[in-house]
Amino acid sequence: MILQHADTPGYTSDLECYLRHSGYESLRKALALQPRALSDGKSQTPQEFIRQEVMTSGLRGRGGAGFSCGLKWSFVDRKSGKPIYLICNADESEPGTFKDRQIIYKDPHQLIEGMIISCFANDVHLAYIYIRGEMPDGAKLLNKTIQEARAKNFLGKNILGSGYDLEIYVHRGAGAYICGEETGLIESLEGKRPYPRIKPPYFPAVLGLWMCPTIVNNVETLCNVKHIVAMGGAEFAKLGTPNNTGTRIVSLSGHVNRPGYYEIEVGKVTIGELINDPVFGGGLRDGRKLKAVIPGGSSAKVFKAGEKFNIKGKEVAMLDLPYDFDSLIQAGSMSGSSAIIVLDDSTDIVEALANIAEFYAHESCGQCTPCREGSLWMSKALQRLAHGEGRASDADYLLKIADNIPGGRTICAFGEACSWPVQSFVAKFKDEFVAKGKADEERRAKERVEPVAKPSQRHQLSTAHK
Ligand SMILES: Cc1cc2nc3c(=O)[nH]c(=O)nc-3n(C[C@H](O)[C@H](O)[C@H](O)COP(=O)(O)O)c2cc1C
Ligand code: SF4
Repeated sequence: MILQHADTPGYTSDLECYLRHSGYESLRKALALQPRALSDGKSQTPQEFIRQEVMTSGLRGRGGAGFSCGLKWSFVDRKSGKPIYLICNADESEPGTFKDRQIIYKDPHQLIEGMIISCFANDVHLAYIYIRGEMPDGAKLLNKTIQEARAKNFLGKNILGSGYDLEIYVHRGAGAYICGEETGLIESLEGKRPYPRIKPPYFPAVLGLWMCPTIVNNVETLCNVKHIVAMGGAEFAKLGTPNNTGTRIVSLSGHVNRPGYYEIEVGKVTIGELINDPVFGGGLRDGRKLKAVIPGGSSAKVFKAGEKFNIKGKEVAMLDLPYDFDSLIQAGSMSGSSAIIVLDDSTDIVEALANIAEFYAHESCGQCTPCREGSLWMSKALQRLAHGEGRASDADYLLKIADNIPGGRTICAFGEACSWPVQSFVAKFKDEFVAKGKADEERRAKERVEPVAKPSQRHQLSTAHK
């Protein structure tokens, strides 16, 4: 649905091509809607109707948390008298994720159309696309796309004679993962450091950009709105599975034969099919064996090959898990940004985690002590362990730190994001972490190397270093 044209030979990102493929028809439909009389005698505005259709569709956010889009829109404070803003989150920084950029680079008018309809439905007259700094070509293309749309009056004043005005601006980030977190993003858009805001009270729907009601939605989420208007919320809800409706673009990377992005109906394809089916991942490279799967971007808890889960009272093997929001949560992880990273048996699991932990230690914004210090301690311990300076007790040490970061101790969900990989990797592959630390200790003893600092001293050292 979302990628139906993107990779068709001859399909280009320009307006003429988009119009030849029914582009902006959903917008015309939305703007032509008339107020409707309801059975209870009340009337419903076109905007309310679209919002209701989005609710009926069951669309859940594609940015990470999988929150209901219709519900999010229903929280918007429409009585404050302040302007309402909409921000498209095009930061796409979660390691392993490369889906939003396919839309931006290959079918940008689809995003603009989805945004215009979403803005119309929410009485928004000024919207932003916050795009990751590392995508300068995407920003350029989006600016060109906006110009093309404005030239044909799909944007600007009195859009298509409807009386509705809207402007969209592109804002480039400067390459920080935390700018993807919606309140950090808002701070950055206001020209400040992207320090996430505490919720409550700063729920964007009430106190967002410039302390005004603000909707933040992911690129793919907003594209879906175009299709909901085209087919109706109830039809859309038939795609996918109950409570997990529509399609999702899955970024598949790692040790598979055919890494890439694949649009699937949510829940209609299993993790095993995504990895092994010839139309998706095509199996593991060089006939190797599966070791682990990170199912939703690097912050999602890892699955170990051969794991089994209790899903609604039934035992389900990891590879048989339907790739949807709810099944993955029930299996103790999440589909997150729908990025699957496949690790085969050649993977050094300690090094893999050290790599992930280094990323999070670098990207913590530093506001909250547990996250700022904890992410750094975990990274340092893992770097030591990965480079021959570990100890057998490091596994427990790592778990102790990771268990003390999340759970309401931090301002934003980055605290969870940096802890979940450590908690899950160490718990599920503990023998490998312990064995590596033990081997390092034995080697050092043999070499009569001075023992490394005790954990408590290391805390001081790492803090002093920071
Ligand atoms: C640390 C962190 C990074 C995030 N990065 C992104 C991102 O790059 N893109 C994105 O769409 N959402 C990201 N999110 C989720 C956003 O905060 C927000 O929930 C999302 O943009 C809402 O859109 P949706 O409801 O359409 O999914 C991130 C969240 C956290 C905690
Ligand atoms: S949890 Fe981490 S990233 Fe989020 S606000 Fe606190 S220090 Fe910053």
